[in-house]
Amino acid sequence: MKKLLFTAALLGVSSMASAQQVNVICSVQADWCNMIATVYARTTGVKINLALKGSGEALAQLMAEKENPKTDVWFGGTGDPHLQAAELGLTLEYKSPTLMQLYPWAQEQAQQSGYKTVGIYSGPLGFGYNTELIKKKKLDIPRSWADLLKPEYKGDIQVANPASSGTAYTMIATLVQLMGEEKAFDYLKALHKNVGQYTRTGVGPIKAVARGETAVSISFIHDAPQERMAGFPVETVTPSEGTGAEIGSMSIVKGARNLAEAKKFYEWALTPQAQTFGANAKQYQLPSNKATPVDANVPDFKKIKMINYDYAKYGKSEERRRLIGRWEKEVNSLPR
Ligand code: G6P
Repeated sequence: MKKLLFTAALLGVSSMASAQQVNVICSVQADWCNMIATVYARTTGVKINLALKGSGEALAQLMAEKENPKTDVWFGGTGDPHLQAAELGLTLEYKSPTLMQLYPWAQEQAQQSGYKTVGIYSGPLGFGYNTELIKKKKLDIPRSWADLLKPEYKGDIQVANPASSGTAYTMIATLVQLMGEEKAFDYLKALHKNVGQYTRTGVGPIKAVARGETAVSISFIHDAPQERMAGFPVETVTPSEGTGAEIGSMSIVKGARNLAEAKKFYEWALTPQAQTFGANAKQYQLPSNKATPVDANVPDFKKIKMINYDYAKYGKSEERRRLIGRWEKEVNSLPR
């Protein structure tokens, strides 16, 4: 009898060990990813295997894994590539019972995708600048998209590469919506002359600003407070012509091997309690659950001139592919 019980316990343990895990691609900054993985494992006993990837790179991985998915949940990153993943059939339709607790923009993100993704946070695009470097180089603080084209910023602006970074794609889509496509590409070509470096990830440029490697970045402004708290002289502005925002999203992968656990993690990530870990990890997007407390560092959208970003259009697979392709061909190939 004892032996039987022992064997049963062993079997139980081994089947638990193989099922109780979730493979997550995480597209926010590492501190937040690690915090949710640690807390989730501690409170539920379920292991989270993390892969940290920018939004564009995450989508590329899901495409590559399509026939044999190794990922269960894609957490965070800009919403456009999540919509693209939905359209390409890479993610699973799932209607969360928690949807009604979310802000309308987060629910719309779900509706637009046929419930294959959902908004978990939002944040506006703007510029970061190093206050000391600006002074030292006698530069003006850039206050508009137009300002960034001034020759004085030559080599001193960083932005990410839109093929790997959702932040940079948000910028392109924002400019196209503000100016019309032809003018936006003229603008991007002119901006190219002032760009010192295109980084792989969206947060690269503001970290470079913080460390004094470049004066100005095009960044989500919610990424600045953590740099300031670390003692770096970083401030942000939003462009006077208007700007776009991301709807950071979360999706369950179609064919996920740990589907039941993936759904549990997804539900947990939509709770107000789980959503506080963003601010706890010093990342200050606006959380999507209306009941999540909003940290004082979260940008106040009411004070920013926002465009009415067409998420459905710019999250379309063909549109996103085409705009990034055009940028590679017509902008990134130009000499600087
Ligand atoms: C940072 C921001 C997130 C954003 C992400 C996009 O982590 O805090 O709000 O979703 O960058 O990353 P990417 O590398 O795709 O631009």
